[in-house]
Amino acid sequence: MTGDKIQDSSGGTGPGVGGQRGLAPAGCPVQSYNEWDPLEEVIVGRLDGAAVPPWHVSLKATMPEDQWPLFERQGGNPFPREMLERGARELDEFANLLEAEGVKVRRPERVEHARPYKTLHWQSESGLYAAMPRDLLLVVGEEIIEAPMSWRCRYYEEAAYRGLLKEYFRQGARWTAAPKPQLPDELYDHDYVESEDEDNPRYVVTDLEPIFDAADFIRCGRDLFVQKSHVTNDFGIEWLRRHLGAAYRIHLLKFRDAAPMHIDATFMPLAPGKLLVNPERVRQIPSMFERWDVLEAPTPAIPESHPMFMSSRWVSMNVLMLDERRVVVERQEAPLIRALQNWGFTCVPCDFRNVMSFGGAFHCVTCDVRRRGTLQSYF
Ligand code: ALA
Repeated sequence: MTGDKIQDSSGGTGPGVGGQRGLAPAGCPVQSYNEWDPLEEVIVGRLDGAAVPPWHVSLKATMPEDQWPLFERQGGNPFPREMLERGARELDEFANLLEAEGVKVRRPERVEHARPYKTLHWQSESGLYAAMPRDLLLVVGEEIIEAPMSWRCRYYEEAAYRGLLKEYFRQGARWTAAPKPQLPDELYDHDYVESEDEDNPRYVVTDLEPIFDAADFIRCGRDLFVQKSHVTNDFGIEWLRRHLGAAYRIHLLKFRDAAPMHIDATFMPLAPGKLLVNPERVRQIPSMFERWDVLEAPTPAIPESHPMFMSSRWVSMNVLMLDERRVVVERQEAPLIRALQNWGFTCVPCDFRNVMSFGGAFHCVTCDVRRRGTLQSYF
């Protein structure tokens, strides 16, 4: 201990031993149930020290094919400095924008990711980055859960968030790490080739051990929605289902996507009754949403020529809700901005194309630590 006190939760309402799920102690900094309640505190990722992920079969399943040579040749090295600096400036501006909107912004620590490491089972030429807290951290109520991520280059990603996690715990949050995966060779399908049937993807990960990325889940109060993907297996989904228990329901959704990895460029509930979908991937609206208004995201405005190292251009729809009406959108996504305005939203534009090159936008680069609201059912 460094002298900080662990908050006493002996009042019986806290999340400590004997505490009940859903009852956070007063002042608990972590509390968020959905994607749209008024945002009060958020973690915004960093690009500082980002490394090109070393080539591995798990990248083959989801990374744009035109970028494979980059991973094969440059894996383990830092990304070009100027590109990182341009992205880092946009992240700082985004953080300033959030602060100007009254949101408390926290940032992970600066870490040098271009360093090799090894475990008992394997070694990696480097880590990746701490740019996308949404991939690693899942907040459900007053609990913050570290996801058991399947990319070996993300094995130590939580190190950049360690200080924050300890601080949140000391202030009353529940802090859980899912079973640390071992990521042995047998976890992966080394003969992986993309399925020709987009409705039935062949997955690059097996069910050897529980794995998931937090960004394959999206939260609507008591109901969470998840897709199986190249980084999220049935075992991982079942672990979270059992862990969360009866207070929450996890629903498995299926989309038309041969390279699924992270639900938030596919299926985005923006507010109660309003669902934004990727028209190429969502062929059928899940029956639970049949009474919701659905907006098909317009084709991304980001030009084909813009470098997209780690995702499709559909991160255009990876928006962040400040509350039920206000939404942060990439400034140059004019068709999306128009469509959202016509739908009754107030758009808060922000430049983000340089960040998007690294695989995500406003939802990916954040983890909403606290939104003002209560646990509800929206269905
Ligand atoms: N993996 C998602 C996409 O590429 C974010 O669209």
